[in-house]
Amino acid sequence: MRALDLVHNVVKNYVKEGSLCIDATMGRGYDTSFLSALVGDSGKVIAMDIQQSALDSTRELLNARKQNNVELILDSHENMTKYAEENSVDCIMFNLGYLPNGDHTIYTHADSTIKAINAGLNLLRSGGLMCVSIYYGGDSGYEEKDALMPFLKEIDDTKYQVIMSSFYNWKNDPPIPVFILKN
Ligand SMILES: C[S@@+](CC[C@H](N)C(=O)[O-])C[C@H]1O[C@@H](n2cnc3c(N)ncnc32)[C@H](O)[C@@H]1O
Repeated sequence: MRALDLVHNVVKNYVKEGSLCIDATMGRGYDTSFLSALVGDSGKVIAMDIQQSALDSTRELLNARKQNNVELILDSHENMTKYAEENSVDCIMFNLGYLPNGDHTIYTHADSTIKAINAGLNLLRSGGLMCVSIYYGGDSGYEEKDALMPFLKEIDDTKYQVIMSSFYNWKNDPPIPVFILKN
């Protein structure tokens, strides 16, 4: 199993035909395409990235799969409140790190990621799910993970449940899938 499979298996329980989802780190569009298939023609996916090459790859993938329920946005995810209403989103996915087969010097950073998670929590509807897959080590280092762990610990437990998963016996900085449920 990959971390991605665990996340997708959980997401399937929260996203239905007609749902509104945000892919906060579109990258090559694989999560965007996965969400697009789940929400169907009556739903919508908003996908964000700061790199034009991510939008280009994602557009190509969606066109090949004839998926046209996605809005592609070239903007930082910390601005996501510009693109959706409060309490309206069923699922938000973050897949942190750098663009696979892209520029490894451009990756997610703690300050903007924390702002984006806070913004996203307001956008989630009651009963909604946020997934944050924390990739760290390698070219992007440990700074983001080290800042995120205490931040996630302090999220208001009267409003949200934060579930931290661990691939406990994996070697070499295994990704950490985090699931945040809005009460
Ligand atoms: C690990 S990749 C995402 C992989 C993607 N989910 C997929 O299925 O291919 C992380 C992406 O986050 C993007 N990113 C970095 N900082 C960002 C920000 N502030 N706002 C939005 N996207 C950002 C990077 O450009 C990169 O494409």
